[in-house]
Amino acid sequence: MKKIGILTSGGDCQGLNAAIRGVAKALYVELGPEVEIYGIQDGYRGLIEGNYRLMKSADFSGILTLGGTILGTSRQPYKQLLTDEGRAKVEAMKANYKKMKLDCLVILGGNGTHKTANLLSQEGLNVITLPKTIDNDLWGTEMTFGFYSALELATEVIDCIHTTATSHGRVFIVEIMGHKVGWLPLFAGVAGGADIILLPEIPYDLDCIVQTLEQRDKSGKRFSILAVAEGALSVQEAKMSKKEFKKARADLTDPAISYRIAREIGQKMDREIRVVVPGHFQRGGGPCTYDRAFATRLGTAAARLITDRNYGNMVALRNEQIVPVPLSEVAGKLKTVPLDHGMIRSARDIGISFGDRT
Ligand code: F6P
Repeated sequence: MKKIGILTSGGDCQGLNAAIRGVAKALYVELGPEVEIYGIQDGYRGLIEGNYRLMKSADFSGILTLGGTILGTSRQPYKQLLTDEGRAKVEAMKANYKKMKLDCLVILGGNGTHKTANLLSQEGLNVITLPKTIDNDLWGTEMTFGFYSALELATEVIDCIHTTATSHGRVFIVEIMGHKVGWLPLFAGVAGGADIILLPEIPYDLDCIVQTLEQRDKSGKRFSILAVAEGALSVQEAKMSKKEFKKARADLTDPAISYRIAREIGQKMDREIRVVVPGHFQRGGGPCTYDRAFATRLGTAAARLITDRNYGNMVALRNEQIVPVPLSEVAGKLKTVPLDHGMIRSARDIGISFGDRT
């Protein structure tokens, strides 16, 4: 008998249930009655508190297109686990793993989740992970599930803003999620036909933004749309130390970076400016077709690693293939947008500004 635990941790995204279903169905097909799957509730918190239940095969039916996660999720900051109090939590997770008599723990998560997964693996637990996040910022895989679903929604927001921006001749700033990286704003900005895209990887110069807007005014364009990453930062901020940057941002009274940028543009030119922050809307609803299929593929690959006892890995997309990547190689590394990425080049080729040159 194989006993498998499964949990989802960190911010949710579309495709989590499709991935859970992929793991479970492949295990049932391969092992039949010789497998028991334990659903651990609310991420690592459930593993710490011993909140889990034996799942039935029926629990994994009808969830392919369902958004969110049937297992619930929570954020468990990795750094806290390194304190004395945190050590007790690590021991509690190990104790519950033993209590369930697990052969393997399957963890679906993003960056923070992978640090903890690697820690548990180093502590001797058999762990296999799947890369989920709308941010696509997980090192080691070319794609994470959730990204394309969020991209559809973020692009739809820009599409809708286009019509009202045109009617009123306004400048609109649409703030796109993505945490500290620019994958989502870059792709949504290009797909939505934004005029300016601001990414954390390319610090912006306010004067460049204003010049681009003025040039558009002069050429008779009635409106302008900026797709701004929630992690966007100015050239001045990019020069700051981590500590200085944190303080500068803590002192900000604007509720989001886009509001500051709107205020700063407004001080330099007389235009009507509006800000739209779709926020968690981008993580909501069911997965798009790509994510359904991709998450299923990752799930089945994870099941294969379990039956092969190939533990300590994340299933990753590389060159069109799903391959295992050691957790120690993934944990703690951020996949930012390379400055020579083809999408940045294409965007520049069609005249989209990144706020760094005019
Ligand atoms: O990592 C996914 C993400 O949606 C980021 O894009 C965003 O910065 C963050 O999570 C929001 O976190 P929370 O759901 O905790 O507010």
